[in-house]
Amino acid sequence: PDEGFRRLRQEAPLYWHEDPNEGSPGFWAVTKYDDVVHVSRHPELFSSHARTSMFDEFTDDDIALYRLMMLFMDPPQHSRQRGYVNKGFTPRMIKQLEEHIRDVSHQLIDDVVERGEADFVRDISAPFPLYVICELIGAPVEDRNKLFDLSNALIGFDDPDYGTSAEHARDVSAEILGYAHELAAYHREHPGDDIATKLLQPDADGRVLSADEFAMFILLLIMAGNETTRNGASGGMLTFFQHPDQWRRLLANRGLIKTTADEVVRWVSPVNLFRRTAMQDTEVRGRQIKEGDKVVIFYPSANRDEDVFENPYTFDVGRDPNPHIGFGGGGPHFCLGTHLARLELTVLFEVLLERMPDIEQAGEARRLRSNFINGIKELPVRFTPSK
Ligand code: HEM
Repeated sequence: PDEGFRRLRQEAPLYWHEDPNEGSPGFWAVTKYDDVVHVSRHPELFSSHARTSMFDEFTDDDIALYRLMMLFMDPPQHSRQRGYVNKGFTPRMIKQLEEHIRDVSHQLIDDVVERGEADFVRDISAPFPLYVICELIGAPVEDRNKLFDLSNALIGFDDPDYGTSAEHARDVSAEILGYAHELAAYHREHPGDDIATKLLQPDADGRVLSADEFAMFILLLIMAGNETTRNGASGGMLTFFQHPDQWRRLLANRGLIKTTADEVVRWVSPVNLFRRTAMQDTEVRGRQIKEGDKVVIFYPSANRDEDVFENPYTFDVGRDPNPHIGFGGGGPHFCLGTHLARLELTVLFEVLLERMPDIEQAGEARRLRSNFINGIKELPVRFTPSK
């Protein structure tokens, strides 16, 4: 994909892609950093609400429900909900999770370290963010496995290996929503120190999320917080196997861990794209975009833009500054989990460097078939067994 994006940036930075399927509309492919930022920061021109790729498969009822999710809202509706949930995601709130994140990392490594081999995805990077989210939303530990299975069933329904379908994902979403309603009832009775409890309390203006809004937010956290971090971690690990000098550099200088997570997110760009819809005729880079046109922003391309990054094709754990936009181009939807994801990746790699310094690839990595997520579904690894 790198070569394709490089050509697009050079030859057709705003490219109209005609969909070969009859009846399907084409889309604008936005591949330059500045243009991805422009689209992200102008929701009045490029709406997240009007339609998204996900909606293509959905019924009108599903769409109405999904529009309660802030990912699919525009300001001012979006600003209200985002303002409301932001309080759970301040750097201070997230910092409090550090110890838990470290414990989870150690626990997962404890489970495999004596074996000397593992599947990095199944054993480490997949359960890792899910366990963190369970803590975040105060889900009882005995519910972890159920949520893990449900969240797994949400991913990769484009991938024939999983044998799922958009319809199945819809049923699973409904099950998660049912669970979120139960969780709300549980937290009303047993208020805890978690984000769910915080979100169920009225804010300073006396506003609370409706039951459906709360449930959709929990579903959003499970969708947005799992697959992204999982693939940041797996993609990061694979990248270190391909660039062993950078792993050795970190072993020799642990201070570089501070800049590692961001370089991993730039390099891997776990989220490949988002779709917007043009709300009026507008011009980008001299091309005329018409009201109603589908506009797709590509993060991996923006994160290799030669006009922004020095040596964009060099994976450099010490890269600083690193203005990557793997967490979004800075508009209202900028990733709510940025601080959390950065902390998760930092702690996980720190613990891996400490406990599995000689970790190496032991077989072929299998990629997820998906146009949305740059994912890996299997990554065999080996390391010196220890206690
Ligand atoms: C939105 C990336 C981890 C929660 C987004 C967006 C991107 C993104 C690209 C869309 C930004 C936009 O449209 O401008 C990532 C990556 C992650 C990650 C690469 C990990 C490496 C997380 C985590 C959570 C999270 C751990 C929460 C637990 C969200 C939410 C949104 C979002 C709720 C929607 C925000 C809104 O609509 O206002 N993320 N994310 N993300 N992310 Fe993340």
